[in-house]
Amino acid sequence: MSGGREKIAVAAQRAYWDALSPEYARITRIDVRDFHWGPQIPGEKTLRLLPPRPRAGATALELGCGGAQNSVWLSRRGWRCAAADASPEQIARARAIAAKSRVSVEFAVAPLENFAAAFPRRKFDLVHSSHALEFVDDPGPVVKAMAGAAKRGGHVAVSTVHPLFNGEWIEGEFEDENGRDAGDAGAGLFLTDYFSPPDDVRDDACGHVVSRAWPVSAWFDWFSDAGLEVVRLAEPPAAKTAPYTSDDWADHGGQLDRIPSTLAIVGRRR
Ligand SMILES: C[S@@+](CC[C@H](N)C(=O)[O-])C[C@H]1O[C@@H](n2cnc3c(N)ncnc32)[C@H](O)[C@@H]1O
Repeated sequence: MSGGREKIAVAAQRAYWDALSPEYARITRIDVRDFHWGPQIPGEKTLRLLPPRPRAGATALELGCGGAQNSVWLSRRGWRCAAADASPEQIARARAIAAKSRVSVEFAVAPLENFAAAFPRRKFDLVHSSHALEFVDDPGPVVKAMAGAAKRGGHVAVSTVHPLFNGEWIEGEFEDENGRDAGDAGAGLFLTDYFSPPDDVRDDACGHVVSRAWPVSAWFDWFSDAGLEVVRLAEPPAAKTAPYTSDDWADHGGQLDRIPSTLAIVGRRR
């Protein structure tokens, strides 16, 4: 345990995602026609959080890429893309998606915790990661390495679990102060500790991993400490159509209209 939180070895992360990969691909629908920031929320075409369209030949590195749909989207817009994930199975899936989409992406099997070893001395215009840093024990050093892999004036973009989302959403038959059915108000968030939100522990047939959330200010500080000027920060509510969805996510219903599930943060390297 670290600071009261359980540590998960990269090997355990890799084994979990290798085992989950086929099922994850079956249950999630991730569209390559938009850049997704998180499940059930609008994509980049609506949110417009990324830096403006790059000069010709601008480079991007995606970390914890999964199927690398975001790299496919960027490639189609003229970025030269590289992408890495700790799981060989996820990388095999990403290679297939890129090939089917007829784009060229440079792939590597590499953990977030030591991705730079797979791209020695390389600097990118954009280093990005969507919903992977929640699986890392300590995001601070990873954000610092991401900043180190960005060119001066380049950008680092991260989306991750919003700290409110690791609270418990409670629905019940609540009454208002006059004893009337509270309707939609009869649901709300129970969060034991915002400053150390509860871990989302996944213990199933694929293995054991933990998805963690951190306060918004912790992310701001990690970005600032890494020499990144935070230029965008978003907590988007759910959208009816989203580039990343699944039946489970669609079932979250009203909760995602009332609390954010994703925190997105973009910084520019000074
Ligand atoms: C929820 S999926 C998100 C995938 C992709 N970024 C997306 O948005 O579709 C999390 C991904 O993080 C990867 N991952 C988990 N722990 C990792 C680690 N320590 N280093 C690199 N990748 C990791 C998993 O293999 C998986 O592909």
